[in-house]
Amino acid sequence: LVPVGVSKFLNNNGGMMNETDNNEIPFSGGTPLPIPPLLKNTSSIPNKAEFQLSAQIAKKEFIEGKETDTYGYNGNYLGPVIRVRKGDEVSIKVKNNLKEETTVHWHGLEVDGENDGGPHSRIMPGETWNPKFTINQPASTLWFHPHLIHKTGEQVYKGLAGLFYVDDDVSDNLNLPNEYGVNDIPLVIQDKKLDANGRFEYKLGMHDVMMGLQGGTILVNGAVNPYLEVPKGKMRFRLLNGSNARIYELLFSNNQSFYQIASDGGLLEQPVGMTKLVISPGERAEIIVDFSEFKDGDTVELTNQGTEFMKFMVTDKKQKDFITPNQLAKIVKIDPSKALKTREFIFQGMGINVNINGKQMDMDRIDEYMDINTTEIWEISNESTGMMGGMAHPFHAHGIQFQILDRDGSQPPANESGWKDTLLVYPGEKVRAIATFKYPGIFMYHCHILEHEDAGMMGQYKVE
Ligand code: C2O
Ligand code: CU
Ligand code: CU
Repeated sequence: LVPVGVSKFLNNNGGMMNETDNNEIPFSGGTPLPIPPLLKNTSSIPNKAEFQLSAQIAKKEFIEGKETDTYGYNGNYLGPVIRVRKGDEVSIKVKNNLKEETTVHWHGLEVDGENDGGPHSRIMPGETWNPKFTINQPASTLWFHPHLIHKTGEQVYKGLAGLFYVDDDVSDNLNLPNEYGVNDIPLVIQDKKLDANGRFEYKLGMHDVMMGLQGGTILVNGAVNPYLEVPKGKMRFRLLNGSNARIYELLFSNNQSFYQIASDGGLLEQPVGMTKLVISPGERAEIIVDFSEFKDGDTVELTNQGTEFMKFMVTDKKQKDFITPNQLAKIVKIDPSKALKTREFIFQGMGINVNINGKQMDMDRIDEYMDINTTEIWEISNESTGMMGGMAHPFHAHGIQFQILDRDGSQPPANESGWKDTLLVYPGEKVRAIATFKYPGIFMYHCHILEHEDAGMMGQYKVE
């Protein structure tokens, strides 16, 4: 198998300014992987879904016997999985039980600006926000997290994030593993700077301001050193890079190949075989891994750039056999000749000066205006430079899903040929993507390195 995926020089994780926390915990793989609960739909009416979320203050032990302060949705860290179907009318009551303001943004959801949960949709402590929307996009793995102006990095780091699954008939009929928590497993990957007492705090040093906050301990679903028992068969993993800033290059310790079946906004047309997956903050990828060649008791680790952070233990448990279909979803390509215009977005600057098109975020300024139901090409370039030669920035826009037209004039890799809402742009690179603006309102576009977003690498577009 040919490894696919953009894999250019990645400066973000290292460089001469690299300062690792000296409390990195050696990998043991001794903690069972927590599976976030599915959030109960409290509506009994078909095609209607109602959910309750509470953003709350909590405590959690990342290391046994050592407690640290956290935030969580309906729990002490991260949140439950919200699962809806295409066509559902959804109502979510979000209660802010924190002692500070927050917002809840549905990352990847095609929704109007009022219900998108960006920085304008502030929820005061003690108050409830009740967004309503109808799901009108294909089966996909989306997610939700706070988006308070200048505070997104801190609130996400403390634990506020959760997954949002969309199902539809197409994905139901594909015979893919889809039993939640059994053969269809969420993997929310994040990194933390844990001190010797198992605590973490959101404090930015010089390196964090430049590169975004990165820690030496990688968590999956909030667990340090996780393991998962897997049957000798095919498993589906839904990966979310929920980290503030770290870009992962994921490989199995045995170089095991796997298939990517979905990107940010849904299933790909064909499964893409690979041995390495690059995933930047905000991105999702669904993969199928086949453990059938292993023997009982075998283990294989998931690694990031050679560092193990999760273990799979193969058991003799029987499971039904899945054949990965050659044809997944049908994706109608948006015709570039339908684009009304091409808009340019240029990432520039470093540290506290990071910006887009020379401007930093201003809540009172709309940067781009567009007409509803029009199609545009967005040309995103990364002109960030610096003493280390610049860094890669993941570009994300709210309320829409893109199709990537090209990277520096060449076809995107096969695993980027489907729907994308977060696009990693390497230093010096230019990515062209196309989207149709179907919903009215004010939306954000920004770098998904949360410290860059909070510093002002964000702008606003208005559809009317
Ligand atoms: Cu994942 Cu503007 O957000
Ligand atoms: Cu978003
Ligand atoms: Cu950035």
